[in-house]
Amino acid sequence: MSRRSQPPSPDSSPRVAKRPRLEYAPLTSEDYKHGLMLAPMVRSGALPTRLYALKHGAKLVWGPETIDKAILHTTRGVDPVTGVVSYHGKSKAIFTTHPIEKPFLIYQIGSADPELAVQAAKMVQQDVSGFDLNCGCPKPFSTHGGMGAALLTNPDLLCSILTALREAMPPEITVSAKIRLLPSQEDTLKLVERIVNTGISALTVHCRTRNMRMKEKAVIERLREIVEFVERMGKGVAVIENGDCLGYEDSKRVREVTGAHSVMIATAAEANPTCFSPTPLKDLELTFVPSYIRLGKYLGNHWSSTKFCSTQFQGQHKSASRADLKALREAIVHAKSYEDMEEHVAPWTGEKEFAEIVEAIERRGGQRAPPIALQPVAPAPTLAQIASETTKDQVALQEAPDAAPASQSIPAAVLGLDIPPAAAEAIAV
Ligand SMILES: Cc1cc2nc3c(=O)[nH]c(=O)nc-3n(C[C@H](O)[C@H](O)[C@H](O)COP(=O)(O)O)c2cc1C
Repeated sequence: MSRRSQPPSPDSSPRVAKRPRLEYAPLTSEDYKHGLMLAPMVRSGALPTRLYALKHGAKLVWGPETIDKAILHTTRGVDPVTGVVSYHGKSKAIFTTHPIEKPFLIYQIGSADPELAVQAAKMVQQDVSGFDLNCGCPKPFSTHGGMGAALLTNPDLLCSILTALREAMPPEITVSAKIRLLPSQEDTLKLVERIVNTGISALTVHCRTRNMRMKEKAVIERLREIVEFVERMGKGVAVIENGDCLGYEDSKRVREVTGAHSVMIATAAEANPTCFSPTPLKDLELTFVPSYIRLGKYLGNHWSSTKFCSTQFQGQHKSASRADLKALREAIVHAKSYEDMEEHVAPWTGEKEFAEIVEAIERRGGQRAPPIALQPVAPAPTLAQIASETTKDQVALQEAPDAAPASQSIPAAVLGLDIPPAAAEAIAV
């Protein structure tokens, strides 16, 4: 049985609190830039996953969406051994965190009510650095209550929640929103303008519309115009791309196409929380899974959560034999508690795994950026730049018809061979 099946004592002081604390400057919109972020994920975004994402290079981590009312009936407790903070409901922990992740932790709220959202935020304020409003979940349990993606068609309510959070929270706590694209780009830009004007620090855009299935390719090409639009508003708000990024290497492609300040990863991180690193682990079953289970036990993460997350991990099977993989998978599937996994993951403690994570986070030296920063990317030219280059070349050709065009790099698409309608419009302006 998990150590934290009983609520820990509210007054207990954790051993970790005795470590010298690194001082972090309050989170600002700049911290949301130039990074890879772990997306909010119900079930999959558990505390051990968030800690491993940080160890392997995520800049900030989002907690799973927690509905406002769910957190309001919890009691906060601190585990005296590990320092884990749990918000306990009647039968289970509704939200669990650890002070080591606080400088990087964004708590995602599900809400359709400004007052409840503020009450929920006040409950957990001491343990997080920022709040994010979920405006993208298309699942009926969310949209029936007017939450998640339902907010996209109720911008008054959406913005009133963000405004209420911004007004209620001290300046050192950031407020952000995560939306999906609307079917029309024009409507999306109108919505984005209103959201940015509420005073948020960052906006994540999941580049799918509410009706798009996860199997459909994210339409990341639509984001560049949104990024440029937000930049023109001049409030310094970070725009984070979300959708289909596979990890560190792939984020270059995403940033080149979109010009987004940062990239947020969900599904790829669910399969491999080390994907934020330029050298992600490949033999997950042999290396990562046993460590993850040990850490889960050490942190008192409920076995059902650790079990679920472990079954999502998928490495590239570099050296594990089929028989070993099968044996491990079957053991996880059949295990009813951590003890049932002993044969595969002993020796137990998990203390070493936790110490390594703490060390990796402390190596950031009070900065939020991981030691290996993202490579700068050469952004694709903006539509305005393309239009201006085209005009310059035309002038050059007219003035010196024999000379080569000033720019050799105009894509064929822009020279009229295959111009997407949005680009054609921009060039025409
Ligand atoms: C298991 C799972 C749980 C999710 N839970 C949330 C959530 O709590 N809040 C949210 O805004 N999005 C949630 N999402 C959506 C992701 O954050 C993300 O927007 C989406 O998966 C697209 O990113 P990807 O292409 O990297 O997977 C979830 C996605 C997955 C796969």
